[in-house]
Amino acid sequence: MKRLILFLLIILVAGNGFAQNSRLQQQGLATQLIVDGSPFLIVGGELGNSSAACVQDIERIFPKLKRMELNTVLVPVYWDLVEPIEGNFDFSLTDKVLEQACKHDLKVVFLWFGAWKNSMSCYAPLWFKQNYKKYPRAHTKGGKPLEIASAFSGNVCEADSRAFSQWMKHLAAIDREEGTVIMVQIENEIGMLENARDYSKQAEEAFRSEVPAELIAHLQKNKRSLHPHMLEKWGSRGYRKKGNWEEVFGADIYTDELFMAWHYACYVEKLAQIARQIYNVPLYVNAAMNSRSRKPGEYPSAGPLAHLIDIWHCAAPNIDILSPDLYDDGFTDWVAQYHLHNNPLFIPEIRLSDNNGVRAFYIFGEHDAIGISPFSIENGSDAPSAPLVQSYGKLKELIPLLTRYQGKGVMKGLLFDQKNRERVIVQDNVKMTCRHYFTLPWDSRATDGSVWPEGGGIVLKLAPEEYLVAGSGIVIEFEKVTEKNVAKTLGEDGFVQTGGVQQKESETFSRWTGKRIGIGFVNEVNVTGDGKLRYVRRLNGDQSHQGRHVRIPVGQFDILHVKLYEYE
Ligand code: DGJ
Repeated sequence: MKRLILFLLIILVAGNGFAQNSRLQQQGLATQLIVDGSPFLIVGGELGNSSAACVQDIERIFPKLKRMELNTVLVPVYWDLVEPIEGNFDFSLTDKVLEQACKHDLKVVFLWFGAWKNSMSCYAPLWFKQNYKKYPRAHTKGGKPLEIASAFSGNVCEADSRAFSQWMKHLAAIDREEGTVIMVQIENEIGMLENARDYSKQAEEAFRSEVPAELIAHLQKNKRSLHPHMLEKWGSRGYRKKGNWEEVFGADIYTDELFMAWHYACYVEKLAQIARQIYNVPLYVNAAMNSRSRKPGEYPSAGPLAHLIDIWHCAAPNIDILSPDLYDDGFTDWVAQYHLHNNPLFIPEIRLSDNNGVRAFYIFGEHDAIGISPFSIENGSDAPSAPLVQSYGKLKELIPLLTRYQGKGVMKGLLFDQKNRERVIVQDNVKMTCRHYFTLPWDSRATDGSVWPEGGGIVLKLAPEEYLVAGSGIVIEFEKVTEKNVAKTLGEDGFVQTGGVQQKESETFSRWTGKRIGIGFVNEVNVTGDGKLRYVRRLNGDQSHQGRHVRIPVGQFDILHVKLYEYE
């Protein structure tokens, strides 16, 4: 028996010394983040770049984050402050972050601002920057050196890795028991600028050499599920199995980007392996988007972008997630690009705005997302009525319920604005017409020229004819798919808008056949810690238009339990 216990202990501690505090796990089609043994959703925020660079700021900001209802904060770790003198390490800021996080009941995702931050090497220590002979720069095609460390330099990688590994060891030592740190981001928005690739001497040599055999093998093995961009690039030269980068993929800037992505990813993999061995938490990388028709080099080329996922997966197998930083229009398109069969959706950065709250509901409902985190969160409002604060409060409540249903195909996300006002969802025999709340006639902001705030939410099927509806600024009508309906314009009271029309319409009606669906009840509910619904109040009157629909007004976040029934 003793031997067995010892054996089990050895298995448990193998690799990283202890059981993991956080890890990823598959449930149905979803990848879940497991924290302290339970599935978790990150309702988070990322600190502005300079907001964790002194203890006073950290002490000032963390209490506010708690008031803002966050459960997780994303915090930069600056290489230049961790290793101000070569070989001398200072972890006092990390210690302060963890102290404050524990005090305010927050989990932490650390962002390693190492060799690259938004392409540049601005957070590399001064001793590194000055010694550019030892730590060479990337060069443009015209030979101009950039303030971007070269990914082709062993010295660069060694220095970055050494600091990262010292910091990781410190983290393992102080966080192992508490388990405050739930993920680590390696570097920040890696990518090459000005040109699609590095033209330094070492880079040129690498570019002329053969495409690594392991990449070709990966493409062959995964040919049927490759990203369309990858398939097209490889197919353009006849799916070659040998040759240099231009021979295999063609001579253009998109090939330059593939090449560069391979080398960035190989570099990141070295740090990821260090993390795995020292403190095994989920690891991710974040990407600046290739938006607004920009070409490689105009955006940070070769970062962990969706169209480069096959390269990143092959070269950096220890990276768990490729994550988009979303600052551009087209939110629903971007998130769809990053929720892939081989990539869960985690949004480490999104522009801070009043829409963040409804968008959070949308991604958890529609994309089984792991989390969301508006950037420079400390600049947001902590008023209890602020949309983000309301929404995060409700989402935290919903975590046990949403995670129970993740990956099972029973959740949908809603997101509406002035242009995209309606979505019809058909499940089993139920047709749900979901709309923006301002499509109803009784809010003057709908028609007085105001810009509609986004409305969004989650529709979760709990059982046949039983739903949970949560979010803000939405209205849903239920009917049987077989019902034949004549569109009518109804007034505020739910009766016909103008007298005399009804009579004419009724003459054209044919005889009704089949069942209808009615709303049995609508309850406002709370969700308990074990995922059960707790009654708050009944909403069967005006608040559901006397049983005609289910709605949650703009400016208010609610969780509703809806029971339908059939009649004829
Ligand atoms: C994206 C970067 O990842 C952040 O660190 C920050 O620079 C923001 N952009 C600023 O908008």
